[in-house]
Amino acid sequence: MKRTHHCNELRLDHVGQEVVLCGWVHSRRDLGGVIFVDVRDREGRTQTVFDPSVLPPEVFARAEALRSESVVQVAGKVRPRPEGTENPKIDTGQVEVVAREVQVLNPADPLPFPIDDPEAAAKVSEETRLRYRYLDLRRPEMQQRLRLRHRAALAVRQYFDELGFLEVETPMLFKSTPEGAREFVVPCRLHPGLFYALPQSPQQFKQILMVAGVERYFQLARCFRDEDLRADRQPEFTQIDVEMSFVDRENIYEVIEGLLARVWKTACGLDIPRPFPRLSYREAMDRFGTDKPDTRFGLELADLTDAFRESGFKLFAKIAREEGGAVKALNAKGFACVTQGQMETMTALAQSFGARGLAYIKVENGEWRSPITKFFGEQEKAALQERLRIEEGDLILFAAGPWQTACEILGRLRLYAAEVLEKQGKLQIPRDRFDFLWVVDFPLLSYDKEMNRWYSSHHPFTAPLPEDIPLLKESPKKVRGQHYDVVVNGVELGGGSIRIHQREVQRLIFEEVLRIPPDIAQARFGYMLEAFRYGAPPHGGIALGFDRMTALLAGVSSIREVIAFPKTAKGACLMTQSPGPVDERQLKELHIELKAPPLK
Ligand code: AMO
Repeated sequence: MKRTHHCNELRLDHVGQEVVLCGWVHSRRDLGGVIFVDVRDREGRTQTVFDPSVLPPEVFARAEALRSESVVQVAGKVRPRPEGTENPKIDTGQVEVVAREVQVLNPADPLPFPIDDPEAAAKVSEETRLRYRYLDLRRPEMQQRLRLRHRAALAVRQYFDELGFLEVETPMLFKSTPEGAREFVVPCRLHPGLFYALPQSPQQFKQILMVAGVERYFQLARCFRDEDLRADRQPEFTQIDVEMSFVDRENIYEVIEGLLARVWKTACGLDIPRPFPRLSYREAMDRFGTDKPDTRFGLELADLTDAFRESGFKLFAKIAREEGGAVKALNAKGFACVTQGQMETMTALAQSFGARGLAYIKVENGEWRSPITKFFGEQEKAALQERLRIEEGDLILFAAGPWQTACEILGRLRLYAAEVLEKQGKLQIPRDRFDFLWVVDFPLLSYDKEMNRWYSSHHPFTAPLPEDIPLLKESPKKVRGQHYDVVVNGVELGGGSIRIHQREVQRLIFEEVLRIPPDIAQARFGYMLEAFRYGAPPHGGIALGFDRMTALLAGVSSIREVIAFPKTAKGACLMTQSPGPVDERQLKELHIELKAPPLK
């Protein structure tokens, strides 16, 4: 017997045909002696019927003993379902297969969780789902996500192929270049004491490919980062990695907007408006308190620094007069009903950014209730009223301090307030809209107070604006970078930059700005500096998070939902039990001695 149809194929047209279906026992119901078995494969399911009055007893006995998720092969004849028993919810709901024979190709043990019932499956813990991922992936919802991911990857490859890009694979065994995130290191038997590192991204290879004359490169590239994990971060993930020669920022925006439009159209039939709006980093921070703003709703931040410079409220006045100090406020519209617990949560959030407390005004019964407004003069009150359009029922939240911190605190509180207000029905966030935008004009460098040194806001290969190059040594703070991020609905989807292609500028950044000693710069990046001596074209590129993109398309908040075999938040694979210990012999071969026994 050979499979003749898949389980989502049979219709009324097939009535009378002898068929063979293969798949898993999705469900089994015993109705007055007749047994109904839904057989499921990756395409869908079909009802098969076992009738004891026409079947040999041993065939019926096998049907009676079928357990959920056993693998079976059923042969029989297609007939219309009796009137009134059709199931409009499934594509094969008009017909059923009257079984003549059933073979159990492989019986299944009792399942650790039900997979035939979406509601019950939704209650299963993520640990259990990851432990038995092969069962979890059988669920239609997960199958759809795998298909969506595949379709998106295909659309990406087709798009780039049409534009003349080449997909080039770059090595997984790379060298350690400890800039940016922490990396995974890999020992190597042939070179005792030396290590590879897994690439955090193909950044350096793709730039070398430009020197190699490839001109238009892309890759669906695996990347590895040993960083703290969250819903949108995995230790290994996939990027749509892109690099182009002889381009400026506008060329990159055009190619990437075209790519995203193609993928959104192919994967979910949506037309996304182009060109994407652009926001400077400064404006994004000032208005939304983050460099990845969700622009689907308002609740924008206001700046009151000028209004508080001469204020009677000394704390704010002092900060407003300081260089780099800012007084910012946010009107959480309709949130005056905030509970004590919510206020405590928001205060804790503010404190996690270094604030000492959280100043506020509640507008209730026509009054501004607040511990601090008694210190405000008419001028500050008028500025607040005008810039925040304060009304009855509003809650005003303040953050004062260094500009970036003040923005970040309110940016975080904006998201918290939006979440609560949406639940209370006071704020509409259009969940089916995708607000794409570019964040541009980032500062090239940021200052690390603890380490007392500058570091690259993006990565050390990002080009400064040509006119800012002379400022690199004297005023690094003022140097603008040619870096851009593409953001959608508060998610940083991708980031890239125009690169440095002149050896001297790259050396200056490494040695004189980032203060990497020449011997270390040479050891880490010597091959790049060398390559740049042999005709490096001007080039630039970007990488998009493919997992994040697929999660957005699938409408899920965690990238684990769109990765076949993800790691937990602690970086473990519960199915294979990794990471795990290695035996003494392997360690010896690698000349590695463990100081601490591995944690159990
Ligand atoms: P960047 O570090 O900004 O840039 O990464 C690009 C995009 O990759 C995604 N991403 C992640 N996704 C899942 N898990 C992670 N741990 C993770 N880390 C990053 C994000 C991010 O926007 N080489 C540069 C790109 C370039 O300059 O061309 C790079 O890797 O969506």
